[in-house]
Amino acid sequence: GKGNYRHFMEKELHEHPIVLGDTLRQHIDPASRAVALPPLPFDPAVVPKITLSACGSAFLAAQVGRYWMEQVARIPVDSDVASELRYRDPPLPEGGAALLVSQSGETADTLAVLRLLKQRRQHVLSVVNVAESTMDRESHGTLLTIAGPEIGVASTKAFTAQLAVLATMALGFGRSRGVLSVQEEARLTAALLEVPAHAATLLEHTEEVQALARQVAMAKDVLFLGRGSLYPIALEGALKLKELSYIHAEGYAAGEMKHGPIALIDQDVPVIALCPSGPLFEKTASNLQEAAARGGRVMAFTDQEGASSLRRFAEAVVVLPTVDPFVAPILHAIPVQMLAYHVAVLKGTDVDQPRNLAKAVTVE
Ligand code: F6R
Repeated sequence: GKGNYRHFMEKELHEHPIVLGDTLRQHIDPASRAVALPPLPFDPAVVPKITLSACGSAFLAAQVGRYWMEQVARIPVDSDVASELRYRDPPLPEGGAALLVSQSGETADTLAVLRLLKQRRQHVLSVVNVAESTMDRESHGTLLTIAGPEIGVASTKAFTAQLAVLATMALGFGRSRGVLSVQEEARLTAALLEVPAHAATLLEHTEEVQALARQVAMAKDVLFLGRGSLYPIALEGALKLKELSYIHAEGYAAGEMKHGPIALIDQDVPVIALCPSGPLFEKTASNLQEAAARGGRVMAFTDQEGASSLRRFAEAVVVLPTVDPFVAPILHAIPVQMLAYHVAVLKGTDVDQPRNLAKAVTVE
């Protein structure tokens, strides 16, 4: 049941800390802060390429995984939504790996890609939440997310659990390939292991997100912007808002704004920015300043360090805990889900069962 919560989604949002902790502790030893992945269907030290695929939010988690694997493991990665990949049928190297991500393990397009890539002699590893699902059974190997049953149609805790597995995997791959030192591995696993506690802090501070939600609920169009590993989270924020509140939203890479979408900006369009401090901060901040200069209403998620400079032009700034840039996409995923939830509640839409949507899309 929902317990004391109004919706399954609210309950599932509050399960982030426990789900993230359980999922991370599967393959990270807190004492040594080392990653120990189980035996995999391919050797990450020599794999020539990984093909990543999934649908919807699971695909956006996979996109963050792509940034991580390229960054900390230096593995060539191709990624595409399953409904495209299955017909693109790209050339694949001998001994290549496929990595598929799915909460249900039953999504028709993702399953079709799994079967296609197996036929093309790729070594298939899946990240699924439902053990014994079709994808679990048909893959050469599976890593589980420990999110428990997710009842709300919009993915919440399963999405962040997917990120937790993908981050752990990227670090494990980085070690196998000799790209990541023991010290770097320890530093980044420590940052990951702190995420559950930060998630709990975030969930206690809902007033700022609710204030933002009151602004967003009045809008007809909303833009989400992010750069680097926050770009897929911007897409996820837009997806969540669309599906839960039926407000038109789009996610863009912050640097793409001046190539078209900036034409949309006026005082009626909230621009939600995911802009933590780190190597890309100044770049994104200058894109946001351009939006503000054109009358855009910039509302930013950032950290203490980022807040001081964004406050000069942003209408609202929500300060998240300060974390290593590596884990920032996991932490930023939570308030964008909360935002979509609160906007939906204000709009009175069916939060747990949005119109036209199904929890598992088992037809093409
Ligand atoms: C969005 C959402 C969907 C799913 C997608 C894939 O909130 O939940 O976009 O992520 O349908 O489903 P799974 O992960 O079961 O393959």
